[in-house]
Amino acid sequence: MSRKILVLDTTLRDGEQVPGAKLNLYEKLELAHQLKALNVDIIEAGFAASSQGDFNAIKEIASQVGSGGTTITALARAVKGDIDAVYQSVKYAQNPLIHIVLGTSAVHVDKKFNKTGDQVLEMGVEAVKYAKTLLPHIQYSTEDASRSDFEYLWKTIEAVVKAGATMINIPDTVGYAVPEEFGELVRKINYRLKNMSDSLILSVHCHNDTGLATANTLAAIKNGADKIECTVNGLGERAGNAALEEVVMAMKLRSAYYDAHTDIITKEIFKTSRLVSNLTGLDIQVNKAITGDNAFAHSSGIHQDGLLKSREVYEVIAPEDVGVESMDIILTARSGRHAFRNAAEKLGCSFSDEAEFGALFAKFLELADAKKEIYDHDVYYLVEKHNGSK
Ligand code: KIV
Ligand code: ZN
Repeated sequence: MSRKILVLDTTLRDGEQVPGAKLNLYEKLELAHQLKALNVDIIEAGFAASSQGDFNAIKEIASQVGSGGTTITALARAVKGDIDAVYQSVKYAQNPLIHIVLGTSAVHVDKKFNKTGDQVLEMGVEAVKYAKTLLPHIQYSTEDASRSDFEYLWKTIEAVVKAGATMINIPDTVGYAVPEEFGELVRKINYRLKNMSDSLILSVHCHNDTGLATANTLAAIKNGADKIECTVNGLGERAGNAALEEVVMAMKLRSAYYDAHTDIITKEIFKTSRLVSNLTGLDIQVNKAITGDNAFAHSSGIHQDGLLKSREVYEVIAPEDVGVESMDIILTARSGRHAFRNAAEKLGCSFSDEAEFGALFAKFLELADAKKEIYDHDVYYLVEKHNGSK
């Protein structure tokens, strides 16, 4: 039996940090219901101390969506006020979780906090001890972990686990990591963590500053991570977070390689992606993996011919598997005879012999040269004209 990887979706927290992506209460609730339909394990519903609006939205999401298998969490800095705000908002869920974040890299310790490493570590420990008086499940994020000194990072993890943290999250906060190195970091931490207790959960949270968020997340899974954090459409600070749809579908496609699976209902992926785009007003790039307009569109004649012989020739993910109705064959001047015949026959055109087909195909090429792309209505036009001239 392959390992189950928990999926935390942070579209409503890290994703909402994208300039212009602010959502109102009703939009957040609509998205939270859809994330539940997608079957994510944990919804990070916001940053409770940031505003009354965020607090209210987290509370509503916890009450309305936080049942069954869906855990609800929200982010807190390592201070009592933030932790109280998270507790007061997530406590309405059946499975609430407090998420505390505190930096472990030298730049965070020295420049951001202007404290010693021991002082920052102590802040983290006190925060966890306090959170533990409120709830049993506490996630601790070692912000900027990938740029942290390993021994200080581990000292922090060991101390916060002893204080009661149940999940340790390793963020690549500024997208500094590369897959081999990040995988190795996760492997080392996982080894030590599981020696402390088998029930501790190791998580990763990758940013996409150099386009490596998906690769780093997958490297972490391969090296023992139990949980991943991602966002729909890869929204998030700066270049965004690991895209949920990419990590989930890569794992599904290569499940034997990863020997792991998620419980995401992949048929809900496309709907969720379009909902996020509509609610935030942020378009999805056409060539975006899994959910872009061209993700299942084929335009080269060689590919179209191969696909019409057997879809597996050029298709590794079935569009239906992510909720897209079917693959799209885009007719252009590069489409071969096979693709054109297929499109024309679908529209009810039959040919008495090869000469007749050849004549129509020649007209199709003329039109395709003039128009670049040929749509169904263009094929209709050719077919009608052809039928009329019979
Ligand atoms: O990028 C980051 O480090 C975060 C943490 C709060 C997990 O978003
Ligand atoms: Zn982040």
